[in-house]
Amino acid sequence: MPILHWLDRDKTIKQTSRAPYRLLEIDPKFSCGDRNSQNLLIQGDNLEALKALLPYYAGKVKCIFIDPPYNTKSAFEHYDDNLEHTKWLEMMYPRLELLAELLSDDGVIFISINDDQVHYLKVILDEIFGRKNFCGSFVWEKKKKPSFLNSNMGSVTEYILSYAKNRINSPAFIGGVTTAGKKYPLNNAGNSIQILTFPANSVEFLCEDQIFEPQDMSSGNIKTKLLDRLEVKDGRNKDLFRLEGEWRYSQKKLSEILSNKERIVISKAPFRPNHIKEGGEPKKIKNLLSIAHYNMSTYEDAAEEGSLLFGHDNSFDYPKPEKLIGTLIGSSTKEGDLVLDSFLGSGTTAAVAHKMNRHWIGIEMGEHAKTHCAVRLQQVIDGEQGGISRDVNWQGGGGLRFYNLGEAIFDEDGQINKNIRFEHLAAHIWFSETKTPFGQKEKSPLLGIHEGVAYYLLFNGILGDKSISGGNVLTSKILSALPNFNGPKVIYGETSRLGLSKLEDNQITFKQTPYDIKAR
Ligand SMILES: C[S@@+](CC[C@H](N)C(=O)[O-])C[C@H]1O[C@@H](n2cnc3c(N)ncnc32)[C@H](O)[C@@H]1O
Repeated sequence: MPILHWLDRDKTIKQTSRAPYRLLEIDPKFSCGDRNSQNLLIQGDNLEALKALLPYYAGKVKCIFIDPPYNTKSAFEHYDDNLEHTKWLEMMYPRLELLAELLSDDGVIFISINDDQVHYLKVILDEIFGRKNFCGSFVWEKKKKPSFLNSNMGSVTEYILSYAKNRINSPAFIGGVTTAGKKYPLNNAGNSIQILTFPANSVEFLCEDQIFEPQDMSSGNIKTKLLDRLEVKDGRNKDLFRLEGEWRYSQKKLSEILSNKERIVISKAPFRPNHIKEGGEPKKIKNLLSIAHYNMSTYEDAAEEGSLLFGHDNSFDYPKPEKLIGTLIGSSTKEGDLVLDSFLGSGTTAAVAHKMNRHWIGIEMGEHAKTHCAVRLQQVIDGEQGGISRDVNWQGGGGLRFYNLGEAIFDEDGQINKNIRFEHLAAHIWFSETKTPFGQKEKSPLLGIHEGVAYYLLFNGILGDKSISGGNVLTSKILSALPNFNGPKVIYGETSRLGLSKLEDNQITFKQTPYDIKAR
């Protein structure tokens, strides 16, 4: 496959592994709303911030939208866009590599870009994501009135390239602008929990035929409780069943839909019934995001949105309009999915994802993480009514946790930072071994079992010995105190006092901290 060359390409390619793993430190002053929220606003360089996210979010992000500096040779107030071409490629390449690792197997990335850079970007994206995973490019009508300055023609378009992590598993992009996030008219109970009754044979299931016992099926911010035993046979519900949840429609609306013989489809647990309107499947989105096609918003609209949010004198240069990002998020995700933007600017992606009931992570290195993103998100949480709010019936709610980049986990000599706690090192070891995110709920030296191998960590007195390297050395006594696993084990510790034959008899591969930790 042809690849793009630039000065120092070889150095650029090593940047991702050279970037330090840092901790994320919460800053309660700029956090707002629900403090247990899963939404993260991170201030810092995204190379390090993305790397800090890897051990926890690798393979978990459903949709990434980024709007990086375009290298347009014009310095803006908020950031230096005037990167030389090589520098631009140097900046983009390692970040795209990390973004690819964070994307879920059915996830997609959208990257907005102008005419000057789009072709270079396509070539490096082909290299990182694979040509076969190119979903297509959107053409966005960015302006109502073109500027003819410094150009042979009046340019009114920009581009959004889209790639899947794995096209076989990626969703079709469904159009209808923000409809994927739009709530159907609510019943009198507003957003509160209600029970919907589905008569026998009324719902089409896209999952395997099976029996579901009554259970809480909630996941993320999707609240669903199955109240009756449900048998799915030949793709349909055999008997009547009831679902409790925050439904978009009332029992009356559901009965209307069913009496019109329209389809109610459930694709997988947690159950969210979808109404597929007469006329078949939802339509795929067109790649022309124009005023004529989708009544698409432009930079002019975005500038107005910005003025309303921040005031005329404090607005942000060249934000994207909410409707544009809402269309992309709506086309490829459902409620509760995780959306990421690592060039957050004035916070548009986070605001839109929030209003569409998606979880989100936003990264911005400038001070405007505080002066614009946090301020805007606070307004959104309070029920701000600009942008797509009316389209999605946004009423406010939720929260965010604000983070800064903290200390590096390993120092320059590869030694473990003395302030690192067990759970941080555990996440890195787990990720380095399994390349999957760490999800341990309760602290234990047994980090988890992956593909038939159990992983253990002896560090910082996890077994109750608080002396400096207490419990970090693998001895017979420590071995007998570890949670049992009858199979191959990898044990990380400061050193091992067990002989080779004892290690072999117990199927133990011993690895020494920190030297054997290679998180990437
Ligand atoms: C074009 S703006 C994004 C605008 C955004 N889409 C909006 O609607 O407001 C690009 C942003 O990326 C940020 N940025 C550039 N390089 C970065 C880096 N290495 N880490 C984090 N943020 C970065 C800039 O500070 C700038 O705010």
